[in-house]
Amino acid sequence: MTDILDLKGRIALITGGGQGVGRQTCLHFAAANAGGVVVNDFHLDRAEAVAEEIRAMGGKALAVQADITDLAAVTDMVARATAEFGRIDILVNNAGNAGPVADPADTKPFWETGPEDWQKWVGTNFFGVLNACKAVVPGMMERKYGRIVTVISDAGRVGEPHLAVYSGAKAAAAGFMRALAKAVGRGGVTANCVALSSIRTPGIAGYLTSEEAVTKMLKSYVIRRLGEPDDAANMILFLGSDAASWITGQVYPVNGGYAITP
Ligand SMILES: NC(=O)c1ccc[n+]([C@@H]2O[C@H](COP(=O)([O-])OP(=O)(O)OC[C@H]3O[C@@H](n4cnc5c(N)ncnc54)[C@H](O)[C@@H]3O)[C@@H](O)[C@H]2O)c1
Repeated sequence: MTDILDLKGRIALITGGGQGVGRQTCLHFAAANAGGVVVNDFHLDRAEAVAEEIRAMGGKALAVQADITDLAAVTDMVARATAEFGRIDILVNNAGNAGPVADPADTKPFWETGPEDWQKWVGTNFFGVLNACKAVVPGMMERKYGRIVTVISDAGRVGEPHLAVYSGAKAAAAGFMRALAKAVGRGGVTANCVALSSIRTPGIAGYLTSEEAVTKMLKSYVIRRLGEPDDAANMILFLGSDAASWITGQVYPVNGGYAITP
């Protein structure tokens, strides 16, 4: 039997692929026979390390440093990736930041923050998605094939009071993906979101400083464990594969039952 989640040599670009959910997505894609994985990260050393892991598995990978908030850098990255692998079939908009999460108790209420804080959250979580889509969609439309998966947060679905601007930026990314799905569907391109709750990654280490903090957090989860990068990567791989070819414009929570909504 053929493997349903076989990527059959497709080429994938994962933003923020150097650690956490992005890293695991890169490894999942390589294990599912991607023909090439472009590992993007702001930190080149992280991207290089993941590319090495993929090569050690027998896969092909290219590490590219680029800040996704910079359209020129993203355009250059896509040009480099295309020179190496010929095209990009799958884009995973994973890079994101939740803002000052080192100690949630220190996180200021929205009204005590200003444009300099907002810029950071909206820049990565929304403009970064626009930049990457602008750079890859023309090629996908031309070739009549594409999969775009954007990683948002349950904060963007139900709102988190201490992450107000982040919540808004993630909701904006989801709204954009719904509209994009309608614009690109006839070109054989799908666009979906995965909405995560707490996944054990370096990005949320600041929340997980003690057993007590974790136990308190888990009270909000129907399935009483934190998510692991695998939980997220499984859904991203599915939406990035041919198995999801009739699914577009949707948001799929992967959240251990954190926010159960209709
Ligand atoms: N971990 C969670 O609990 C959680 C919950 C909800 C949503 N998310 C979302 O999942 C995604 C991945 O989260 P994570 O926890 O794995 O994050 P992480 O912080 O562990 O890793 C993110 C990676 O993205 C890179 N990055 C950040 N900004 C970038 C930029 N401007 N350009 C290029 N690379 C950049 C970082 O260098 C880092 O290596 C993010 O979009 C995040 O908002 C995570």
